[in-house]
Amino acid sequence: MRPQVLAVTSSLLRSTTSRLFPSTSFALPGLLLAAHPTIVKAQPQLQQQFLYTQQTTANMSATPISANSVLDLIKNRRTYYPLSKDLPISKERVSEIVKEAVLHTPSSFNAQSNRVVVLFGADHEKLWDIATEILKAIVPADAFQATADKMNMFKGAAGTVLFFEDEKTVQKQQADYPMYADKFPGWATQSDAMLQFVIWTALEAEGAIGANLQHYNPLINEKVAAEWKVPSDWKLNAQLVFGGKTGEAGPKDQIPIEERVKFFGA
Ligand SMILES: Cc1cc2nc3c(=O)[nH]c(=O)nc-3n(C[C@H](O)[C@H](O)[C@H](O)COP(=O)(O)O)c2cc1C
Repeated sequence: MRPQVLAVTSSLLRSTTSRLFPSTSFALPGLLLAAHPTIVKAQPQLQQQFLYTQQTTANMSATPISANSVLDLIKNRRTYYPLSKDLPISKERVSEIVKEAVLHTPSSFNAQSNRVVVLFGADHEKLWDIATEILKAIVPADAFQATADKMNMFKGAAGTVLFFEDEKTVQKQQADYPMYADKFPGWATQSDAMLQFVIWTALEAEGAIGANLQHYNPLINEKVAAEWKVPSDWKLNAQLVFGGKTGEAGPKDQIPIEERVKFFGA
């Protein structure tokens, strides 16, 4: 590609991308820029991108991560119940994992709509007392013992991560980009699901810690918001119960992979 063409193409790409994704940094592949040092030198903005790409490439070679390492962590994540209060890691480590996951999980247009509340100890127990109380009012009396046992099982764990999406952020996206208005609620939920998966996988990567995903929303939403002063724009999507593993994960059926994935092209 001739230098002028590359400069025009790169500026066009950058301006289109920044219109579509205003807060997303845009880097051209380092090799492409490296092949045209004069262009890089002439444009401070490109120079910055060049440095960014060089740094990223340097970081990648310093800490190589193969797909197999990632897939091993993904395979290691399973549903575990019951869980104990014996956490093999500190509360601080759980908090660190949650914060890192929130910072690095993607969201549409980088809207950052995910919100999280982590409950430990007595607050975690309070959550499952709230759920029990609400369910007692609606589950038939003769079926309630099984429900109460289940709630006690969750209460016996060490903590719960509550996942929310911020509706105010979604509404702002809808106002800013009317063309995608009907897509933003779904994208916010997808981003939240990614975060759930990241935290679930990361916690279980720490060793003898297990987790299971629950959905007592919307039944518990109002009481949760009141108890932990959750902003009214935060919509509860899921609860991840975590604690010490007390046994193995159950068996898991798999539909043949050939029925689920197709590949095309040479
Ligand atoms: C979107 C979603 C919703 C789920 N909801 C629940 C739930 O409400 N209660 C529950 O016990 N497990 C729930 N699960 C866990 C699944 O049952 C479980 O992930 C699945 O059976 C596969 O087992 P694994 O987690 O051990 O791989 C949910 C999982 C996903 C991805």
